[in-house]
Amino acid sequence: MTSTSSKDSAAVADQLFRLLPNALAPYSKVQVACAVEGAGGALHFGVNVENAAYPQGWCAETSAIGAAVTAGEKALVRVFVTSSLDEAIWPCGGCRQKIFELAAKGCEVVSLRPEGRSESRTIEQLLPLGFRLETTPPVPVK
Ligand code: THU
Repeated sequence: MTSTSSKDSAAVADQLFRLLPNALAPYSKVQVACAVEGAGGALHFGVNVENAAYPQGWCAETSAIGAAVTAGEKALVRVFVTSSLDEAIWPCGGCRQKIFELAAKGCEVVSLRPEGRSESRTIEQLLPLGFRLETTPPVPVK
C-alpha cells in the first residue's frame, strides 16, 4: 500500500483494520497488519503473507519495513501493529530485531486493539541489548 502522512493513532488504527482482510493467512488464520512511520511522518503499510511452505511466510512488520525501505526511509519513529486476535499483539522476536535495525532512538511500538485501546512500548523495552553492528548505529532523528 502507498504511504500516507497521517500520524493520528485512531486514524492509523482505522487504516490497519481495513487492511486486515488483505493479510494472506490461510494456515494460522491470524491476520496481522502493520504501519511503520518514518522520521518525516510518512506511513508505510504491510500485512502478513503466509505460504504453504510454512517457513517461507513472513510477518506484517516485515512487509511494512520492506515498503518503508523501498520508499527511501532511513529511520523509523513509530510502529503500529494490530491483528484479528482479541488480545494485544506484539512483534515476534525476529521482527523486533528488524525494527531495531532501523529504529530511531526511543522508537515506539504501538499495539492497537480492535476495541480502540492501545498500548505502547519502546523498541528498547521490547528488545533490550539488541544486536547491532558498529556499521549500523541508531539513526539520529532531527
Ligand atoms: N505474525 C505477524 O505478522 N507479526 C507478528 O508480530 C507476529 C506474528 C504473523 C505470522 C503468521 O503469519 C501469523 O501471524 C501467526 O503467527
